[in-house]
Amino acid sequence: MTTPAFRALFENRPVILAPMEDVSDAVFRRLCRALGADLCVTEFVNAEGLLRGCRNARRKLKLDADDTPTAIQIYGSNPERLAEAARVAEEANPAFIDINCGCWVPKIAGRGAGAGWLRNPTAMVEMAKLIVGTVKLPVTVKTRIGYGPESEMPIIELAKRLEGAGVSALTIHCRTAQMGHSGKADWSWARKAREVVNIPVVVNGDIKTADDAQRAFDETGCAGVMVGRAAIEHPWVFREARTLLDTGVHLAGPTAAERLELCREHLRKNVEARGEPHGVRVIRRHLSGYLHGLKGAAALRKQLLFDDTLSGCLAILDAADARRKAEAHEVWIASQ
Ligand SMILES: Cc1cc2nc3c(=O)[nH]c(=O)nc-3n(C[C@H](O)[C@H](O)[C@H](O)COP(=O)(O)O)c2cc1C
Repeated sequence: MTTPAFRALFENRPVILAPMEDVSDAVFRRLCRALGADLCVTEFVNAEGLLRGCRNARRKLKLDADDTPTAIQIYGSNPERLAEAARVAEEANPAFIDINCGCWVPKIAGRGAGAGWLRNPTAMVEMAKLIVGTVKLPVTVKTRIGYGPESEMPIIELAKRLEGAGVSALTIHCRTAQMGHSGKADWSWARKAREVVNIPVVVNGDIKTADDAQRAFDETGCAGVMVGRAAIEHPWVFREARTLLDTGVHLAGPTAAERLELCREHLRKNVEARGEPHGVRVIRRHLSGYLHGLKGAAALRKQLLFDDTLSGCLAILDAADARRKAEAHEVWIASQ
């Protein structure tokens, strides 16, 4: 059911952190929100795992009081089990429930979950209707423009039918399932879908910079933009996009000090949440982006990749920060 609180989420052209397995966890959501993300979606939660009470599913479902607004995304291939899982997810008090109908990974789509639903749009719409009728919270769907390689993408007709089923908003990753993450996202499909429905449509795919976010809004007229991979390397994209959208100003990128501090903060919070060594390893996919442009970044990253301990990684980063400060001081003295 669409509520005023739900509609308010889309009033100011939100820039949304995409659901990303092993990335969009509670720690990363908090970092991105502090940097300007207006709305976050959890990593996808397997409906079966959730109903079995599996530990990983329970971890993904846990939303702290300040983790808001955050939607919980679920996936599965059985409508009744998905509806049951949605009811469990609802108890965690998310902003809404999102259903994953876009994951292209063969072990998921091949079993009828994720983008597998795109092979049978009628079944997808029926499943969405069942979930809408089961929970009190608004239900949204994240999907792709088609399964591939259709010439005319089914997303237009599907958007209308999902709206008819009571879905409150739609996120469109503007690629087909068969494209995976390759090829260019074609935002024109989000615009065409947006034109035929009254619910908010969020455009996703290849939004990498603040300029991309602005262009995606301008070209599609969509209600929101969703950022995935670019946030892994550059979570500052949220404040840069927010500032550009609100004021027309292009913010400068983060300073070296900010980059090092974000690394430290992410490490500390990850280890607090997940312990060592997992909490340390989880950050590795972010490193090349976080350290981008720093003097000696490649060597620094290599050192960090070989250390599984929080204290070791913090010492490496502290030493880099001390070098940076000493060099800045030398430059300052030389210029006097
Ligand atoms: C590491 C990774 C994990 C992902 N996990 C999910 C997921 O759990 N649920 C989902 O709907 N999409 C998932 N996606 C897809 C993203 O949400 C997004 O649709 C896709 O990356 C396209 O957006 P982008 O071009 O901004 O990255 C994942 C993508 C990546 C790179």
